Amino acid sequence: MALALPLMGAGALAQQVPTTAATPPPGPGLDLINERCGFCHTIGQVFQKRRTEADWAATVQGMADRGAEVSPEEIKTITAYLAQNYALSPATPGAAPAPAGK
Ligand code: HEC
Repeated sequence: MALALPLMGAGALAQQVPTTAATPPPGPGLDLINERCGFCHTIGQVFQKRRTEADWAATVQGMADRGAEVSPEEIKTITAYLAQNYALSPATPGAAPAPAGK
């Protein structure tokens, strides 16, 4: 009896809160990230971050400097993908952007 309430509460919460994207949205950059960005750390680490496009560009370039095998062309594709799907919204400090319409 007493178990039902907490369980229902957790379920409702899990549906409302867009947590760290367990399933990254498909896109031209995703295949590249899957192929090139999982050597030194999990790609899950990449998708936990929220950044501006400029910061993503610096991050991806920094990974290339560390040894990630990405061409300048691929850096652009990956940066564009991350900037589009894992953007930092300046309007909500410290929070991931919430796609309200979905
Ligand atoms: C040659 C090894 C290597 C590869 C390949 C690599 N990384 Fe990293 N990455 C690291 C290391 C080492 C760290 C931890 C040190 C740090 O935080 O700067 C890290 C940390 C990170 C972080 C968390 C720290 C931060 O700056 O936010 C992100 C995000 C990240 N990598 C993204 C990527 C992306 C995107 C790719 C693919 C383009 C990639 N990494 C490929 C070595 C690599």
